[in-house]
Amino acid sequence: MSGYVKVASLGELEDDTPKRVDVDGTPVSLVRTEGEVFAINDICSHANVSLSEGEVEDCAIECWLHGSSFDLRTGKPSGLPATRPVPVYPVKIEGDGPDAAVLVSVTQES
Ligand code: FES
Repeated sequence: MSGYVKVASLGELEDDTPKRVDVDGTPVSLVRTEGEVFAINDICSHANVSLSEGEVEDCAIECWLHGSSFDLRTGKPSGLPATRPVPVYPVKIEGDGPDAAVLVSVTQES
């Protein structure tokens, strides 16, 4: 449990609509999609752009500036111009229903 921080309630997250949160000073984009919640660093690896302003599709988040998509499970870009992955973080859900707590740990990359 150490390192996990509550960042949202499940009910606050809409499908395919990223939510930017701050976890111990690290900007994180939370994405609920395909029945799961993912946490990915909010800053594109190509330039200082907030990924949570991009679109979610096929378990990936697209950077709106130049169009690289990052896999929400691995952080790897699917194509240029980004070549480096973005860190992804482990997520835990505690509880049931919309009040379930969404916890993220940025001290360990998943
Ligand atoms: S800033 Fe994200 S792809 Fe260029």
